Amino acid sequence: MKKEKLLKLLNQMTLEEKVGQLIQIADIDTTTGPVKKLNLSSEMLFHVGSILNVVGSEKIRKIQKEYLSRNRLKIPLLFMADIINGYRTVFPIPIAQGCSWNPKVVYDCTKVSIQEAEAAGTNVNFSPMVDLVRDSRWGRVMESIGGEDPYLGKVFAKTMIEAYQGKDISKLGNAAACVKHFAAYGAVEGGRDYNTVDMSEREFRQYYLPAYQAAIEKGAEMIMTSFNTINGIPATVNSWLLRKVLREELGFQGVVISDYSAIEETIAHGVSKDKKEAAYKAIMAGVDIDMMSNVYANHLKELVEEGKVPERILDESVWRVLTLKNKLGLFENPYGNSNKEREMKILKSKKNLQIARETTSETFVLLKNEKEVLPLKKNNKIALIGPYADNIAILGSWSMFSDKSKILTLKEVLESRIGCENVLYAKGSEILKQKEINEILEAEGIDSIQMENEEAKEKEYLKEAVEKAKQADIIILAIGEHYRQSGEACSRANIEISEIQRNLLKELTKLNKKIITILFNGRPLVLKEVEEKSDALLEVWFPGTEGANAILDVILGDVNPSGKLTMSFPQATGQCPIYYNHYNTGRPHINNVRYVSRYQDIPTESYYPFGYGLSYSKFEYSDLKISSNHIKEDLPITVSISVKNNSKIAGKEVIQLYIQDLVGSCVRPVKELKGFKKEYFEPWEEKEITFQITIDMLKFWNEKLEYKAESGEFKVFVGPNSKDTKECRFEFINS
Ligand code: GLC
Repeated sequence: MKKEKLLKLLNQMTLEEKVGQLIQIADIDTTTGPVKKLNLSSEMLFHVGSILNVVGSEKIRKIQKEYLSRNRLKIPLLFMADIINGYRTVFPIPIAQGCSWNPKVVYDCTKVSIQEAEAAGTNVNFSPMVDLVRDSRWGRVMESIGGEDPYLGKVFAKTMIEAYQGKDISKLGNAAACVKHFAAYGAVEGGRDYNTVDMSEREFRQYYLPAYQAAIEKGAEMIMTSFNTINGIPATVNSWLLRKVLREELGFQGVVISDYSAIEETIAHGVSKDKKEAAYKAIMAGVDIDMMSNVYANHLKELVEEGKVPERILDESVWRVLTLKNKLGLFENPYGNSNKEREMKILKSKKNLQIARETTSETFVLLKNEKEVLPLKKNNKIALIGPYADNIAILGSWSMFSDKSKILTLKEVLESRIGCENVLYAKGSEILKQKEINEILEAEGIDSIQMENEEAKEKEYLKEAVEKAKQADIIILAIGEHYRQSGEACSRANIEISEIQRNLLKELTKLNKKIITILFNGRPLVLKEVEEKSDALLEVWFPGTEGANAILDVILGDVNPSGKLTMSFPQATGQCPIYYNHYNTGRPHINNVRYVSRYQDIPTESYYPFGYGLSYSKFEYSDLKISSNHIKEDLPITVSISVKNNSKIAGKEVIQLYIQDLVGSCVRPVKELKGFKKEYFEPWEEKEITFQITIDMLKFWNEKLEYKAESGEFKVFVGPNSKDTKECRFEFINS
């Protein structure tokens, strides 16, 4: 629709109709569930602007048709949903996708996800989640595409916006992306969900803002405000954040939506005395859509009528929502490109499953491989043990639209690959004791489940597992987190593998057989005990629909693992938050010195560092060179290093470039990722890998909060992770 016509439409709208466009509800069936509690009038029901988490072309068509028949100006609904790591075909959880360090893997996972969701009628996807995360106690680290690093966050934020939106969001296979959670939700104190965030503006700009900014610069159509406060003011009513930073500085012109009932929650935060004040503060701060609260529905009209909210402010929000609908082509075609026939053809197609299998295997991180126990040698009799050995709950907590039928388990795939006669299966244990599961359920007001003879069952599981393991040549142990322990509202004060699983591992180690442990989890865990008792350790996260196939592709050697961690793994829960790009402090840890920054009871460094991951190949780094020891504005320098695959196995390696600013007008991190290259190597192949270093890479938010590079000495580090690096120096003299 032409802009003039859209403007005419806006001017035809009544106040009620305008307010309606700024309301999002979870269904137009107001007789049940959370929508019922909103107690919306039937008139308002057919003014609302968008629907949350209703999917499927037939259902969406039906709702849209009924809605349009009752909407005076025929303004179509927007359908928005959480397609976090896949729709019907489920891909690895976002933190896993980031561990591929391969923008093409992230692109392919994202593209297929939105093709399936758009075919099923979704117009806006509540993704990418680009929150920078450092504290693994927070259950939502599983959603972070960039992990603990702002550079990775930027790279993958851009990749995902491009995959979701393409060049035109109204075209087949594209939709609008909603970047979340703005802002700095990943920094909740204590890793406790929905908690306070309080940091300096410099910290915010240096670490947390870049990924959102990258997504906006790439054209993201929507931003979702986060539940947390930012320096004392909830993001959802924070004018500094939403007007000054987001609109004025970053130039964002798209739609701002609150997170679920976040506007109303400003009352609980204690910054709004009632719903009317919450409505006033949110609309004045710049929140366009009120997701699932009735604050705008019940108070926005009167605020405008009383002159407290200028109608201009209301019109600006409504205009942004209408503009998004117009960009999606919904006025001409309210049903988008979705229809049953297309949906059936594309959802979980063979092609999509193949893409899932290939991308998934690149997200795994090989953490240990003692004496090259992997890949598995042929003709082994394998004991496949553990609660994840024959389990389809491997999709992660945001897979509510998945098709769980025909998800293969490790046991099914292994038997199909090496023959049932060579697989000795035993569950070995549950993931958690019933008491632990009940703690989770009771905390959510769900009736706990009593398990009869739990002790006896545990002993029986253990006995069977030991019996089976005794008959085998090698043990594959599949353990991890319960899927209800990871995701939103899943913060944990202890991130060890459960005792019941550790006990199973302990019993198996008594048999003196090789143990390959496969980890299914959504966050970095405390792995010291598991690692010490395993000969090989493969981190597979929650790998999605093709997880079992991809895991067997790797452990049987068809695929050489190439993933690298995007979050540091802690020595202990008490070490959280831990991240590689930390400051040095005035007393950095030195061994055997008492008065330094350290813990008495654990080592200071992480258990596994950012960027860490092994391969079946053997990569050797040598001969780091720098083209000059002086960098100038118009004269970048080149760093090169020789990387050799000193093995007979072809593989991919992620060569990482870090820089340290040795002295700044404020403290600077000991390392910052500034580039990486994922390269394929034939057996015995050697390559010279080069990186260009520019002044831009040296810029930071200085003591005056200016984004500038400062003269001085810098260190360059290049290597396979953030710890094992070769280094050299250069100087920047700011002319
Ligand atoms: C949730 C989440 C957000 C999600 C939204 C809609 O509370 O915080 O990530 O997109 O509600 O489901």
